[in-house]
Amino acid sequence: MRRIAAVTALVVLTTFGGALAAVGGGDVVLKNKGGDTLFSHSLHVDGAGLECTACHDKLYLSKGQHKKVTMKEMQKGKSCGACHNGKTAFSVKGDCAKCHKK
Ligand code: HEC
Ligand code: HEC
Ligand code: HEC
Repeated sequence: MRRIAAVTALVVLTTFGGALAAVGGGDVVLKNKGGDTLFSHSLHVDGAGLECTACHDKLYLSKGQHKKVTMKEMQKGKSCGACHNGKTAFSVKGDCAKCHKK
């Protein structure tokens, strides 16, 4: 019985996680000198098929705990640059307008 209860708890947790996955952290707008950027959870999770753990907690925590990163640091693999390096995804060295809106 104990074992069944544990499995049930796991299923409930997984289902709850699934419900969260549809929402994720939503759309995140980062204001900066290069023009506002929009980060879309939907596009990265549903669109690109990334797991939450691809970014959390290694790269990001929350908007309140955001650590500002420069483009130079991104080119060295920080923040968006961990993937937007021209291999995993389009590079932070170009395509500025894909991320920045004036
Ligand atoms: C491609 C990277 C990436 C993936 C994958 C990702 N997130 Fe995020 N998440 C972010 C970024 C960027 C932020 C904004 C944090 C910041 O401003 O420093 C964020 C913020 C959040 C926040 C906080 C929102 C707020 O209002 O502060 C939550 C909650 C969150 N994510 C949940 C999730 C969940 C759940 C998943 C998986 C379904 C997920 N994230 C997948 C990048 C990602
Ligand atoms: C993959 C998305 C992405 C691409 C591509 C990108 N940026 Fe950014 N950029 C950001 C994000 C996100 C921030 C804000 C970072 C933060 O707040 O931590 C930022 C910040 C900046 C800043 C302010 C910080 C600094 O480095 O002075 C400037 C200026 C900037 N970007 C210019 C550019 C230019 C020019 C390009 C094209 C060569 C570019 N960006 C390409 C996402 C991107
Ligand atoms: C864990 C890896 C990862 C991180 C971190 C990440 N991205 Fe992405 N992103 C992807 C992948 C994969 C795609 C889809 C492939 C592509 O478009 O090159 C994508 C696509 C995008 C697109 C869609 C471009 C288009 O027009 O189709 C935008 C915009 C974008 N990312 C912005 C950002 C910003 C801004 C950040 C940082 C706040 C960020 N991404 C961090 C992996 C990542």
